[in-house]
Amino acid sequence: MIDSNTSLYAIFGNPVHHSKSPLIHNASFKKTGLNAVYLAFEISDISKGLNTMRNLNIKGASITLPFKVDVMEELDTIDDKALQIGAVNTVINKNGILHGYNTDCAAAITPLKPMGIQNKTVCIIGAGGAAQAVAHGIFKEKGNIIILNRSQKSGQALADKINGQFISMTPKKNQKIKKEKEIGEHRIDILINTTSVGMFPKAKAQPFPSKYLHSDMVVMDIVYNPIKTQLLMEAQKKGCKTIDGLSMFIYQGAAQFELWTGITPDLALMRTAAISGDK
Ligand code: ATR
Repeated sequence: MIDSNTSLYAIFGNPVHHSKSPLIHNASFKKTGLNAVYLAFEISDISKGLNTMRNLNIKGASITLPFKVDVMEELDTIDDKALQIGAVNTVINKNGILHGYNTDCAAAITPLKPMGIQNKTVCIIGAGGAAQAVAHGIFKEKGNIIILNRSQKSGQALADKINGQFISMTPKKNQKIKKEKEIGEHRIDILINTTSVGMFPKAKAQPFPSKYLHSDMVVMDIVYNPIKTQLLMEAQKKGCKTIDGLSMFIYQGAAQFELWTGITPDLALMRTAAISGDK
């Protein structure tokens, strides 16, 4: 029941109305019996968003696209790991003091760890905020990283940061064949898509040439709408092990819930809540 003691939690992003975070967090508040509610706010200014958080005593917030980096300037403290990654996706409000954390990085690594990351060749598609967190985690686990990205500048910068190699996704005129060959020259063990390519409504799009998928590869997509992306469908056809986008999404949300409440939420319940939102 919502009453005058209900605590408010929020997600700040733009766009944000496609987000499944309200589904997983509200289901978890209900299950754990906490008097709290989680709402989505589409904002254009993260500074104003955080001021509102202080003024209305919003107890915790998820930060999503495009504010994961800019939010850092508005916080009172930032956890060391988030500082190293260079992005914050979680804020805790303790008596008006705002603390920032990153739960994306560990969430990306958790489903990959059982398969082993050390000395594996890991190709990360993309170089944005999500790629930064994923790359940091893979780097810490001693994987060998290839960054495959559309724009040269951010791709090369990320590759330099984590001692990796950069391959451009957009070759200059008449270089298409050469670039594709460059991907084919590497025996990729783990492939991770961190771009929005393949996301609804452009669900037929594919960020990686199918001909370079092979059955020994683990293929992970962080896109969770649709759950089975075109990339994952192609990978399954080739016999690859696949990890869908809900995995990382649920792990990052569960870690947020624990940071805010001190309670470990039910992962299966979160997954069911996220999927039921599609019906
Ligand atoms: P996020 O914080 O979710 O990672 P982002 O910082 O906007 O979002 O980064 C999105 C990434 O997806 C970028 O690497 C972007 O490529 P550019 O660096 O060239 O912009 C990549 N991306 C987005 N749309 C893409 C598309 N249609 N084709 C290829 N790459 C795309």
